[in-house]
Amino acid sequence: MAGRPRASPALGVADALTRDAVEHWLRETDEARLETLWAAADEARRDYVGDAVHLRGLVEVSNYCVRGCTYCGIRAGNRGVERYRVSADVVLDCAHKAEEFGYGTLVMQSGEDYGIETDWLAGILRRIRRETGLAAITLSLGERPDDDLAAWREAGADRYLLRFETSDDALYRHIHPDLPGKVSDRMAILRRLQELGYEAGTGIMVGIPGQTHASIAADIELFRGMDMDMIGIGPYLPHPATPLGQESARRQTEDDWPPDQAPSSELMTCKVLALTRLARPDANLPATTALSLVNKAGGRAHGLQRGANVVMPNLTPLREREKYEIYPEKAAVHETAAAINDSIMALLAALGRTVGTGAGARRRS
Ligand code: 5AD
Repeated sequence: MAGRPRASPALGVADALTRDAVEHWLRETDEARLETLWAAADEARRDYVGDAVHLRGLVEVSNYCVRGCTYCGIRAGNRGVERYRVSADVVLDCAHKAEEFGYGTLVMQSGEDYGIETDWLAGILRRIRRETGLAAITLSLGERPDDDLAAWREAGADRYLLRFETSDDALYRHIHPDLPGKVSDRMAILRRLQELGYEAGTGIMVGIPGQTHASIAADIELFRGMDMDMIGIGPYLPHPATPLGQESARRQTEDDWPPDQAPSSELMTCKVLALTRLARPDANLPATTALSLVNKAGGRAHGLQRGANVVMPNLTPLREREKYEIYPEKAAVHETAAAINDSIMALLAALGRTVGTGAGARRRS
């Protein structure tokens, strides 16, 4: 189980992880050296958060969205998406299913949808609290106003996820247009969430067109200083019905990438994950669905062996899930929640990892 922090004999990397060293690792191609990085991240994971993998049941509450994020398949401008918002009863069914599968916690995710009204969601949160024994409830609903965040905290939400996506300001503006008259400041919202008593989570996408190795090193440096409970890291996956997806396709065809472009590969994502584990050894880090898609055979396993200690199995009913396509194949339309659960349990057994119980909150080192 989680022991006391100690320097990593596997590498000594944790001590020597200056920003330059991080950037160097991000460019590393030598497989033997990379093995030492994986070993160090795995060891830090075992020392600080143990062998238990925390399972967080995911319910995609709504795919309505007011934003125009250029990477995201459910952006407001994508007319090809059939929009849905589930009922309170469907959320409760998912919460019960999470309990049945032995998941300690539920994550409610959606587009930035103001049809998810403050009181409606507060009512659902109270019902989950009353009707289930789930240990924690997480929200991931975009850049909501302060009053909503406070009301939902009050009603029983414990955690909130909001990735800053990239610390490169110009790139962020390019992929995440502001709403009229309102400048997006996710760092300020993350601080506010912490003030409200939420456990806060953030994260990035890896390999966004225009994102450099140096920029990802800056992201990891930022993680180091942020004191986040959770950090989600996944590869950028081009969605053909988005402006950035089309830009990716053109760049691919013309082999036209900016200097120092970081790839959106499984390998690069694993490097970022491993380095993040070393920078924030006590954080909860998911092996993301996007990582499992970029290498279907081994992405999730690699994530769990290179720093991750969380998986978020999808509980959204198939009918809605197929409409929540923020990137291609997200929906896994042929896999029921039970099938997803079976494959995750089998993977954990094969990796010699246990299933986490309870809230699986971060224990600060
Ligand atoms: N590729 C990879 N990740 C994506 N996300 C949204 N769209 C994509 C995409 N095309 C991620 C963002 C967001 C999270 C919920 O999903 O990082 O914060």
